[in-house]
Amino acid sequence: MFDYDAELRGYREAFRTACGIRPGDRVLDVGCGAGQTTRDAGRDAAPGAVLGVDVAERMLEHARANTSDDNVRYVLADATTYDFEPVDVVISRFGVMFFDDPARAFRNLRRAARRVVFLVWQPRAENEWARAIPEAIGGSFRDDSPFSLGDPDTTRRLMTDAGFTEPTFTALREPLYYGPDVESAYENVLQLREPQTLLAGLDPADGDRARAALRETLKAHQTADGVQFGSAAWIIRTE
Ligand SMILES: C[S@@+](CC[C@H](N)C(=O)[O-])C[C@H]1O[C@@H](n2cnc3c(N)ncnc32)[C@H](O)[C@@H]1O
Repeated sequence: MFDYDAELRGYREAFRTACGIRPGDRVLDVGCGAGQTTRDAGRDAAPGAVLGVDVAERMLEHARANTSDDNVRYVLADATTYDFEPVDVVISRFGVMFFDDPARAFRNLRRAARRVVFLVWQPRAENEWARAIPEAIGGSFRDDSPFSLGDPDTTRRLMTDAGFTEPTFTALREPLYYGPDVESAYENVLQLREPQTLLAGLDPADGDRARAALRETLKAHQTADGVQFGSAAWIIRTE
């Protein structure tokens, strides 16, 4: 499985600090994936309870396997419709941009809490990883959902219409990490759905050229701290 926690390591502490979770807090982690932020929240909230929800059972299997904290549990659920118990804060690291019906989903989350802390991508143009990797392969990624909350005005309206107070947007820029060297970064990128789709659409000769170009791009992004691409995100908060 693609190591999302490693890729996002630059954001981990900034997000944890932004969440501002205190002992005793009840926390909901939306789109919790393999649960790293759920476990971080569990440690900060103890003895308060943390619930991680995700629509992907495969991710929750990893989350459960990696969690030993008694105050953390996971539920397979669509955050758009699940009937949540009230909590003190709803958090999400890159898990709230994928709703089919964002207005309904945000209204549902508002029923769980007034206070939220979300980490979401800024627009694709600000995210080197989302431009450089498809460019190297000679195509473009079609799925814009990761950037669906990137425009603050649109997201502010979505959230206030759902009943939240005016959110604040704090810009963060961190490198995304793909591996210690070009070969491991290459293997990691090829595990991602969009590069796989682009490469699958090419004939063998173009596929070879695209793979070679991808390796060159990864080489150009090799740093002393591994292969990294620039990224930009918002921390969105309501009180
Ligand atoms: C980019 S991943 C982020 C995972 C995790 N928050 C992390 O930082 O490692 C987005 C996650 O949101 C989940 N997701 C998408 N739509 C969802 C929904 N409607 N309800 C709950 N989870 C959802 C996906 O299954 C996926 O695990």
